[in-house]
Amino acid sequence: MEKNHWQEKVYSKKLQLNIYPFQGVISFFKSKKFRKKSKIKILEIGCGAGNNLAFLAQEGFNVFGIDMSKSAISFAKKKFIQKKIKGTIKVGNIKKLDWPNNYFDYVIDRSVLTHNTNQDISIILDEIKRILKKNGTILSFDFFGSNTPDIKFGKRLQYNTYHKFTKGYFKLLGKTSFFNYKILKKLFNKFKIFDINQIITKNKNGKTMYEVFNLIAKKK
Ligand SMILES: C[S@@+](CC[C@H](N)C(=O)[O-])C[C@H]1O[C@@H](n2cnc3c(N)ncnc32)[C@H](O)[C@@H]1O
Repeated sequence: MEKNHWQEKVYSKKLQLNIYPFQGVISFFKSKKFRKKSKIKILEIGCGAGNNLAFLAQEGFNVFGIDMSKSAISFAKKKFIQKKIKGTIKVGNIKKLDWPNNYFDYVIDRSVLTHNTNQDISIILDEIKRILKKNGTILSFDFFGSNTPDIKFGKRLQYNTYHKFTKGYFKLLGKTSFFNYKILKKLFNKFKIFDINQIITKNKNGKTMYEVFNLIAKKK
């Protein structure tokens, strides 16, 4: 990350404080049957304002969150108090996940790994592998695809990572890495990949506006 871009340029200015849970999180957890939700431990890495976690806590899951932005975490904590729901939420870099081995059933990444370099993602995925139970699942939503046209407004930092976007979708979001199937498969090679979906959004003239990948993988 650029020197905590999210804290300095986004959350402290009260931007991107998402209120609603992400659609992919709702559909995944609503489509499954759980015998005792309170026994299911879910960690959201880069939980931001706690929008996904609040939904999951209201659904009865045992939720945990970590984000490097102090403002986002304090906002998330207030939300939990207001809604009278429980969860463990803390400030920190997800390169170090301070939880025991084999602890979580699920880890959620919604547009978080994509804002890290491949080197950092490898470190984070090793941590995720450590804290997930055997057969535990990582759900990754919104890895930006390398065919996303607004890449051109950024400056290449290294390989597939860009920063200093002068305009376009990524200007507010800061450092962003862009992926294809090959890079994702390589990064997740220590996991069993269940599904990778590519979603391309085109405008009325057929021009690609966004490309994202969603991925479901299990600890081997
Ligand atoms: C696009 S926001 C997504 C927030 C939330 N997951 C959601 O779905 O609304 C990306 C979040 O990831 C956090 N983040 C990115 N890289 C991180 C890292 N290495 N350690 C901790 N937090 C990180 C940022 O602070 C930011 O809150």
